[in-house]
Amino acid sequence: MCGIVGYFGKKDAVKALLDGLSRLEYRGYDSAGVAIPDGDSVSIIRTVGKLENLKAALSTKNIKANMGIGHTRWATHGRPSEINAHPHRSGSIVLVHNGIVENYIELKESLEESGYSFISDTDTEVLAHLIRSLYRGDLFSALRDAVSKVRGSYAIAVIDADKRDRIVVTRRDVPLVLGVDDINGEYIAASDIPAALNITRDFIMLEDGGFAQISADGVTEYNPAGEIIQKKITHIDWDPVMAEKDGYPDFMLKEINEQPRTLMDTLRGKIIPDEGKIYLGELEGLKSKAGELERIVIVACGTSLHSGMIGKLYIESYAILPVEVDIASEFLQRSLPLSDKVLVICISQSGETADTKQALRLAKKRGAKVAAICNVLGSAIASEADYCIYTHAGPEISVASTKAFTSQTIVLLLFSLWLGEQRDVLGKKAISEILNDLLHIPDKLKAIFADQENIKSIALKYIHAPSFLFIARHYNYPIAFEGALKLKEISYIHAEGYCSGELKHGPIALLSDNFPVMVYAPAGTVKDKVFSAIEEVQARGASVIAVISEDAIPPSQCSDIIRIPETREELSVLLTVVVSQLFAYYAAKGLNRDVDKPRNLAKSVTVE
Ligand code: M6R
Repeated sequence: MCGIVGYFGKKDAVKALLDGLSRLEYRGYDSAGVAIPDGDSVSIIRTVGKLENLKAALSTKNIKANMGIGHTRWATHGRPSEINAHPHRSGSIVLVHNGIVENYIELKESLEESGYSFISDTDTEVLAHLIRSLYRGDLFSALRDAVSKVRGSYAIAVIDADKRDRIVVTRRDVPLVLGVDDINGEYIAASDIPAALNITRDFIMLEDGGFAQISADGVTEYNPAGEIIQKKITHIDWDPVMAEKDGYPDFMLKEINEQPRTLMDTLRGKIIPDEGKIYLGELEGLKSKAGELERIVIVACGTSLHSGMIGKLYIESYAILPVEVDIASEFLQRSLPLSDKVLVICISQSGETADTKQALRLAKKRGAKVAAICNVLGSAIASEADYCIYTHAGPEISVASTKAFTSQTIVLLLFSLWLGEQRDVLGKKAISEILNDLLHIPDKLKAIFADQENIKSIALKYIHAPSFLFIARHYNYPIAFEGALKLKEISYIHAEGYCSGELKHGPIALLSDNFPVMVYAPAGTVKDKVFSAIEEVQARGASVIAVISEDAIPPSQCSDIIRIPETREELSVLLTVVVSQLFAYYAAKGLNRDVDKPRNLAKSVTVE
């Protein structure tokens, strides 16, 4: 759960590494470090806390170098401290690592027997000693031999401090891409694409188990067997500014506001609304099997799980197929029978979430076909699934997931309509009507953004509440979960999401004077039932923040009202969720939280 960077080129390596690390901070930010050539050796500079501290430490030194490696850490083994921060060193071997060495204790014992002594509490230090113990002058061979003894996941960038003529990298089960600019002679290895966008848009997606050497001569790529392979360059359309804040104070606010555009990006090339046509070329191989499917299992974590809960309702109503939704870590514990008549859908923004990835592998092992819905190109989940639909929401940097959720939900809607058509339960006319309504959502979102001041002032009114309840029903029930998750993860206010029908079965006992309850009650089949829940909440003296359609007459005495444009019930989630995102954002800002990097969290949870 860390970010690594390795730079080799003609420009200032310190700047390139810091630029790259600053775009990887979302992967971890409890400490950071770099190793840079300095005279006849390398200097290792490591600091605890955010990257700012490393920048400050480096600014006092005047190091000029054309290569180096860097790391931003999210602790898994050993508390955040300078000694545990990367790079780690053994003799002339210096490296950075993302992942977990599962057999590090046995490796450590055997290295200690051979005379190596350890100074950190990390699993990574084992790698440095192991490579050194196998080094006979060829860094690439030493790295290959070393990782053949390692169980676990890793992306590693290693240098020889005595030679400083190359960076050797490898990865298994965690991401690593190589940015290549042959014209300017600049090369960068990084845990994620945004870290390299200042240098290039041409990438090698290093295969799982593959290796590469980066030197002044360019990049040489090797397959897991260690044979040189032909480089396959993928051109990425993302503009560097797409990965930056674009004038917003935080990535989160930027990403929330991007949604009118990202939703259209998700839809691009996939629909002809007036003809009721949906193109999901990625699912071509599934077409012939669609009629035989007996059920669908959706697996995901966090916000992606909540979009899956909405996907279940879409698939059940449009494709008339039973669907269950499971938390990926729980799915791993179940003895759920699967077969080729079951489709498992893994949803993941990053495509690297460890539990979802393991669930994917388990589902395949049990004979199910697996479809992925991912945002990150070439990620593990996207690559390993039988089919993958990309959400095309662009890089999501803020730890709190926002635009990925709405894009995932749209992909799930399209998938359910596509499946309904394949299974002959939905006609083109019905699909056309839904798609045409969907095309109005971006404008309706803009109307919500125009009401941001109202949402902000309501959020600020409640920031000192110790606890919140979010309630809703049917399609919006997952939004109650998502609203609560968003608020708690960035503001640290305790919040719970509930189905409004469950109120009387327990949570109503929490309510007393001024307890804030956000209620999603847009127009639709369950509106009246949710309005009744509002009455019940108010009768206990609690404060109701009602999210209702523009023309609705609210139940009396709602403390606060947020109006959203009217749309068909199943699409209202795309509007109500944005209200939740803005509400959480302004509450967190009111409390001076670091919204993009909430405490204890990392963007990609690449460990179980
Ligand atoms: O990358 P993924 O979609 O697989 O990530 C899943 C969760 O870790 C993620 O949604 C997390 O819950 C976010 N912090 C929510 O904002």
